[in-house]
Amino acid sequence: MLSRKNFLRALGLVGVAGMVKDLDASPRRKPLVVSTWDFGLAANAAAWKVLQSGGYALDAVEAGVAIPEADPKITSVGYGGYPDRDGRVTLDSCIMDEAWNCGSVACLEHIMHPSAVARRVMDKTPHVMLVGDGALKFALEQGFSKTDLLTPEAEQAWKQWLEKSEYKPEPNWELNHDTIGMLAIDQQQRLCGICTTSGQAWKMHGRVGDSPVIGAGLYVDGEVGAATCSGLGEEMIRSAASHSIVEAMRSGMKPQKACEDVMKRILKKRGNKVSKTQVCFLAVDIHGNVGAYSLLKGFEYAITHDGRNEVLQAPYMLNE
Ligand code: GLY
Repeated sequence: MLSRKNFLRALGLVGVAGMVKDLDASPRRKPLVVSTWDFGLAANAAAWKVLQSGGYALDAVEAGVAIPEADPKITSVGYGGYPDRDGRVTLDSCIMDEAWNCGSVACLEHIMHPSAVARRVMDKTPHVMLVGDGALKFALEQGFSKTDLLTPEAEQAWKQWLEKSEYKPEPNWELNHDTIGMLAIDQQQRLCGICTTSGQAWKMHGRVGDSPVIGAGLYVDGEVGAATCSGLGEEMIRSAASHSIVEAMRSGMKPQKACEDVMKRILKKRGNKVSKTQVCFLAVDIHGNVGAYSLLKGFEYAITHDGRNEVLQAPYMLNE
């Protein structure tokens, strides 16, 4: 249970929880790429190659997240992702550019790179979102090949879960393995983002989280800033978290303050319903200022600029 003192402290009514580093005081950085969790390092390196050679931020984020999507050791994104409770690996992803163009796929099976399919939805259809069989049909029409995404390791973990079959789907954030959200600004100051995941392990078949939902797991306004999320997707959908963060930046807040403001709102509305789960935000404004914040300790993000590629701990709201 969230104690009254911690609840008030978290809402800023007494003291300050967590270690807060003033990221907004950092010098402005462009080009820039940031992404969630430590596996963002390798993803950022791939995105940085595109940015460094003068490429488009949208191409950079797509190239970046292709790395964890293809990595069988990462159990929360793409190939090797943990399956749903029926043993099916279903992927969610979305992509958004600086001019509100966006594409998304949800509950997509058998395709290793859902983000590349989301990009095709954006570029080749009049729609924003395709789901399930329709998304798969479109991907195959576009020339993507079918892959068995369930690795032997993921299958073994699922079979172990089946022994109890306790329906308590949880993001595996404790292992630093959840959604990868990535935001990039290129040399022409174009700001783009992407968000991709296999979602909660052992979820109900058909469950879709925040990651493919524009405004929840990702939102980009090329004149203001962008935000992406990781953690328990249902909370990000309820709060339209990424959109809320960008709107807070539009009203004048720096990214760090905007993340903290939206987190306070979630805690105020949801209280003890969220106090034991993880909610993580990452945001940038068009000037290259960065904000990162999580509900609980443990959220890390990767930041790459001026050739430096490092993982930083995000400040957090609750001590318990
Ligand atoms: N944030 C990933 C999910 O909840 O599906």
